[in-house]
Amino acid sequence: MATRELDGLTAFVTGSGRGLGRVMAERLAELGANVAIHDMDETAPAKYGEFANLAEVVERLKRHGTKVTSVTGNIGDQKAVAEMKRKIEADLGDVHVLVNCAGGDIGAKGGKPNPNNALDIELDDIRVLTENNLIGTMLVCQAFVPPMKQRGGGSVINIASAAAHLGVSPEVVYSTLKAAVVHYTRCLAKELIDDGVRVNAVSPGATKTARFQATRVVDPNRMDSSKKSLNRYAEPEEIAEAVAFLAGPRARFINGQVIRVDGGFTIFPG
Ligand SMILES: NC(=O)c1ccc[n+]([C@@H]2O[C@H](COP(=O)([O-])OP(=O)(O)OC[C@H]3O[C@@H](n4cnc5c(N)ncnc54)[C@H](O)[C@@H]3O)[C@@H](O)[C@H]2O)c1
Repeated sequence: MATRELDGLTAFVTGSGRGLGRVMAERLAELGANVAIHDMDETAPAKYGEFANLAEVVERLKRHGTKVTSVTGNIGDQKAVAEMKRKIEADLGDVHVLVNCAGGDIGAKGGKPNPNNALDIELDDIRVLTENNLIGTMLVCQAFVPPMKQRGGGSVINIASAAAHLGVSPEVVYSTLKAAVVHYTRCLAKELIDDGVRVNAVSPGATKTARFQATRVVDPNRMDSSKKSLNRYAEPEEIAEAVAFLAGPRARFINGQVIRVDGGFTIFPG
């Protein structure tokens, strides 16, 4: 079923040392793209037991026969992002597909913020969440989109969340920032409408990544993907498929949109 529709393209997937980003990077490589993977540091893939380090993920992706490199650093740090860009371009050349996947509801002390509601969440947590989910996405776009604009083509896919589309509590700040990512997607798409660069978002529903399972109470009734009911958690591959579609030529006229990949969890307009 895998065609090589991304042959000749280079993709950069932030936060791809583990979890959803890793599966997205893998799918893009499978479709023929050269891929730059990224994480905060070399050992981030080990945090929830997925891989020993980024080097191990690089070797795994190379099975698909394309070029793979890795970079590390905080996406909320402009200098670190500039260094990522320098290394990726030196190793793989121009980036055509940018997937902003790094982020999540991880606060200043490492786990989920506690408290995590609107009125009690601590300022340090608000700052870290904003850097990881919104500022980081913006800085990576500011670094990687201008060359796409100059060349007259490219695809940017920002990873939001089902929680961006409805009122929730707890996870208030995280959800608010993901809603901002969705709107930033629309605004950037508008800004680039004459430049041939498409900007879209994917909003995953709750997805069975290692981090997801380690940081929340999981409902065993929603774990089994072989049942016919869509009232379940997503498989990471189901989210990656939407990203792969938006990255390539089949989505060439789709711009400024958000695809909610959540089995119908958010069935409403808007
Ligand atoms: N798993 C889910 O249920 C789910 C649902 C909706 C949205 N999402 C989103 O999907 C993305 C991936 O989630 P996941 O479940 O794979 O979690 P994860 O924690 O395994 O992956 C997130 C990655 O981003 C990296 N990261 C975070 N902040 C960073 C920063 N400032 N600089 C560099 N790297 C940074 C982390 O180190 C990690 O590798 C996140 O943006 C998350 O908000 C996940």
